[in-house]
Amino acid sequence: VLRDLSPPWRDLEFMSPLSSERADRLAAYLCEVNGVVIEIGCGWAELLLRVVAAAPNLTAIGIDTDVASIGHGRQLAADRGIADRVTLTSDAAVLPATAAAAISVGATHAWAPPASDEAEPLHYAEALARIRSLLPVGGRAVYGEGIWTQAPTPAAITALGGREDEMVSRDELVAIATNAGFIVDGVDEATEREWDDFEAGYVAGYRRWLATHSTDHTSAAAVRERLDRQRDAYLNGYKGVLGFAYLELRAE
Ligand SMILES: C[S@@+](CC[C@H](N)C(=O)[O-])C[C@H]1O[C@@H](n2cnc3c(N)ncnc32)[C@H](O)[C@@H]1O
Repeated sequence: VLRDLSPPWRDLEFMSPLSSERADRLAAYLCEVNGVVIEIGCGWAELLLRVVAAAPNLTAIGIDTDVASIGHGRQLAADRGIADRVTLTSDAAVLPATAAAAISVGATHAWAPPASDEAEPLHYAEALARIRSLLPVGGRAVYGEGIWTQAPTPAAITALGGREDEMVSRDELVAIATNAGFIVDGVDEATEREWDDFEAGYVAGYRRWLATHSTDHTSAAAVRERLDRQRDAYLNGYKGVLGFAYLELRAE
């Protein structure tokens, strides 16, 4: 319906609450291996491309079901002169049986899909087990995912998946990663600034659309409604309750 809404990469570097500085630190952690680094749910692959750009010894395979994001990622790889070391595709069959490093950022559901259409707790353990199964001992992973950064409030639960057990705490996530066979080299959480920047970028396309279209446009009410709903969900719902953890993981 809203074909003229701008794509998310116009306003966001990543489709996650991730700063450029943190991305470079995470990329540096992954660069210490040799071989192929894989990412499922890579979006337009900005983090994966930074890893490859920083490490001549690495090649990358990124998979995402969103064809437009994959297309944009390929263009970025070409622009940076690293397309020969990067495969971006929507074809999950290209996933190799082993890799030197792996990335999952906001993509637990892509590594370990829910079993049903019902809201389910995030399948952290299943996703981390699948990542671990691809890595040799010493292989590295970056795992970023939503967590409860404080006890979930009714307003946050309503604004998100509707269930208190949708997410775990940071400490519970660290235990899940350890149980999956990883040494946890680093643990951090997205800052309030990273969240505010992400939320602002997420709705920037709606704002721009409203600023450039008449209030009489047939889609104007729908765009306004989306903007208001998203802003309300964040400011009056999950801000400060939904966190995002970044784990640096070494296969044990
Ligand atoms: C929250 S975004 C994160 C994207 C990227 N990791 C980033 O941080 O910029 C989640 C991504 O997972 C992708 N996705 C969802 N289900 C998937 C699946 N089954 N296989 C591959 N990608 C999937 C979506 O298209 C989306 O690009």
